[in-house]
Amino acid sequence: MTQEFVPITISGTGSYAPKRILTNAELAESVDTSDEWIFTRTGIRERRIATDGELTSDMAAEAGRRSLETAGIARGEIDLVIVATTTPDMPFPSTACLVQHKLGLNSLAAFDLQAACSGFIYALETAAGMVRSGAYRNALVIGAERLSTIVDWQDRSTCVLFGDGAGAVVISRNHDPKSGWLGAKLGCDGSAVELLHLPGGGCQIPASSDSVEERQHFIKMKGREVFKAAVRVMEQSALQILEHHGLTADQVGCVVPHQANLRIIETLASRLGIPMDRFFLNLDRYGNTSAASIPIALDEAVRSGRIKSGELVLMVAFGGGLTWGSSLIRWP
Ligand code: UT7
Repeated sequence: MTQEFVPITISGTGSYAPKRILTNAELAESVDTSDEWIFTRTGIRERRIATDGELTSDMAAEAGRRSLETAGIARGEIDLVIVATTTPDMPFPSTACLVQHKLGLNSLAAFDLQAACSGFIYALETAAGMVRSGAYRNALVIGAERLSTIVDWQDRSTCVLFGDGAGAVVISRNHDPKSGWLGAKLGCDGSAVELLHLPGGGCQIPASSDSVEERQHFIKMKGREVFKAAVRVMEQSALQILEHHGLTADQVGCVVPHQANLRIIETLASRLGIPMDRFFLNLDRYGNTSAASIPIALDEAVRSGRIKSGELVLMVAFGGGLTWGSSLIRWP
């Protein structure tokens, strides 16, 4: 017996960014850096920082609410919530459970997914599989981060890169044969953990006064090595997904890349042979928001009219793990 898969699509997008803007110039008052260094090495001008009481689940819920609004889907029709995050409100329950409650959803299932900056692409693929199976009607997929709580504000090599925010999409059954979700390719190299990780707070280094003293609860990164790996794995996964669907890079109308570093994106563009004007960029305003970066950019690209109906959209990410992934959708 052959399994019938339900066609699916993204039916709505939404995003949320905290109001507080932290500029490069402000950062230069607390660490030895400059607007010039940060901008020329990364393309980042400013990032958003959550206020004290503003939790990952609050940002996630607001982005989710906005995506439901654009999808025109009633809360009662959502039966799956996945939140991709590296900065959950707490180790458990999951941020997805908190979001489900904050949005008043009756979802059948809610869980978090952790794949660092690739988390949203992993979550999309997971939700896509569950909705395609026919067992779920609509899924709310959110990438949300409050990275300002895990950034070492004394470490100039990382603190200039990251910001807070959330983005969301609704995955639904598709009734238009000319558009919709094509698929994803995910990957991981678990031997590269030390390139980008947060050592403390798990069972290996539980929280203690020593772990706090040793600053083990902050992001540690080997920037140059991550840079090289990022370009390699993003190129590889983008080419894999295109090839799998019999498509070529010149057919892509819009690339929504993980917004980590403009130089990484420029190198990727040149390797793929896709002109930079087909890449949607907003990292100058948000920095790297990890799992939230692609869904925030996707939402802005859709709302600004940059992504048009019928256009082939490629999303491509990399992150700690190392993890990476690409997904393709013919925009509805
Ligand atoms: O989602 C994944 C997240 N991670 C990434 O995307 C990171 C990928 N890597 C990068 O984006 C880049 O490697 C960085 C932006 C992190 C660094 O840029 P780079 O061109 O690779 O610089 P570098 O690490 O080779 O450092 C060059 C110099 C060093 O000084 P010396 O040794 O040449 O004297 C650093 O100490 O720049 C210095 N430096 C800074 N100077 C001013 C490092 N950070 C700063 C800073 N301001 N913020």
